[in-house]
Amino acid sequence: MFSREKARKKMEDWRILCSILMVIMMVIEGGEAQLSENFYSSSCPRLERIVQQAVKKKHDQTFVTAPATLRLFFHDCLVQGCDASVMIFSPNGDAEKDSDSDLSLAGDGFDTVIKAKQAVEAVCPGVVSCADILALAAREAVVLTGGPSFSVELGRRDGLRSKKSDVTNHLPKADHKFNELLNLFAKHGLNQTDLVALSGAHTIGAAHCSKFSKRIYNYSQFSPIDPTLDPLYALQLQQQCPPGVNPNIVTFLDPLSSNTFDNSYYKSLIVGRGLLTSDQELFTNPASRPTVVDFANNPGNFNAAFITAMRKLGRVDVKTGNQESRTLEQPEVESRTVEQPGAESRTLEKPETFVTAQATLRLFFHDCFVEGRCDASIMIFRTKRRCRERCSRDGLISNRSRVKGHFPDADCDFKQLQTMFAKHRLNEIDLIASLGAHTIGASQLTLHLTLTKLRNSCKSTA
Ligand SMILES: *[C@@H]1O[C@H](CO)[C@@H](O)[C@H](O)[C@H]1NC(C)=O
Ligand SMILES: *[C@@H]1O[C@H](CO)[C@@H](O)[C@H](O)[C@H]1NC(C)=O
Ligand SMILES: *[C@@H]1O[C@H](CO)[C@@H](O)[C@H](O)[C@H]1NC(C)=O
Repeated sequence: MFSREKARKKMEDWRILCSILMVIMMVIEGGEAQLSENFYSSSCPRLERIVQQAVKKKHDQTFVTAPATLRLFFHDCLVQGCDASVMIFSPNGDAEKDSDSDLSLAGDGFDTVIKAKQAVEAVCPGVVSCADILALAAREAVVLTGGPSFSVELGRRDGLRSKKSDVTNHLPKADHKFNELLNLFAKHGLNQTDLVALSGAHTIGAAHCSKFSKRIYNYSQFSPIDPTLDPLYALQLQQQCPPGVNPNIVTFLDPLSSNTFDNSYYKSLIVGRGLLTSDQELFTNPASRPTVVDFANNPGNFNAAFITAMRKLGRVDVKTGNQESRTLEQPEVESRTVEQPGAESRTLEKPETFVTAQATLRLFFHDCFVEGRCDASIMIFRTKRRCRERCSRDGLISNRSRVKGHFPDADCDFKQLQTMFAKHRLNEIDLIASLGAHTIGASQLTLHLTLTKLRNSCKSTA
């Protein structure tokens, strides 16, 4: 009880400090309503470096970080402007993030901003808005996956309003036609070039089967398959997304190089391999087709247009000067978070306690399969010695290279799994029983891999 009281007191102090800081800042910056690249150059000079490091660390843990963060930025900016309102948690389930369009935002995007915000707060408390951190993190997502770097304008205030109902009709939908997309972008001062360029972010994205199943099964009364789709690609998509597929299964939006931020997305559109209607429309429509062709042939032109469009996006309806609050207080930002990263974390709509169970089980399993012992070696950080000193019986070796060959890949067949489990004196009953843990794992990506690699055998794991 004592410590709870203390925590409450601490929170109060924090709030008071925040309010004071906010008032001081309003006085200093009153009236100023411009974004600028060096907005924090004196109040938080190391800001960009801190965000860069935090995003890189998260990206090293899970690839989903990059597409999830970029998408979060986009969804934030198009609804009530770039003000981090997408991150606000409502106990009533009626915030922006509770809308149908935002439920598919991956937990890792939120987690990236929360981690970066914590790192920034440790150095410059109460200074930098979540909206600015999200804008910087989105830039890092592009850079970390091989895309162009660019300078980010700063000075956004965080919004206080976040309503599910505000999202309606503000975000592009997978089945949107060209004119719908164009109108939606135009509302925010984004033109046709911006639309085509920003769609290029799909170069590292993925989409659920339900977003395009109509195109491959039930297009029209004359043709079950969308005629703008390459027939061979349609067939592959049918294999990846059979009727009645697990709704969590995802497919990459850029079939050529889904892990790299490049212009191959546009090359795919030209050959009818745009995954969503809203992708393929950019090539189908004669107005935007020349831009698609240009971006496919000239990566430099794509990069330049993407940078221009990202900077324009970052200015959409921003709150500056003394509008609204500068920083969201931590408790308002719900952590839709997994502490243990991995493919599993693609979509986390479940309450945190639920994720804890799934993540802990998986962590235990992964720990026990490497170095032959359940020795918590999976928890050792290269730079952190704390656990090593405190818990003398825990393992000391934790080497990335030792993991290879110890783990069931998604595409292992039963025999290979059996061999792998046998190494640890686990028989097939144990194998089947432990796979049952997937009953609480959101293993959509694993399932996806299994489906797309059916013909491949297990890579040198056995
Ligand atoms: C869109 O705006 C950018 C400048 O922000 C400009 O370079 C480009 O030509 C415009 N595109 C169209 C189609 O108007
Ligand atoms: C195809 O669409 C029609 C009309 O929307 C619907 O009635 C039918 O059930 C759909 N068929 C399949 C296989 O989804
Ligand atoms: C990890 O193992 C590799 C190969 O066995 C070795 O070269 C490397 O030095 C090890 N790294 C650490 C941090 O122990």
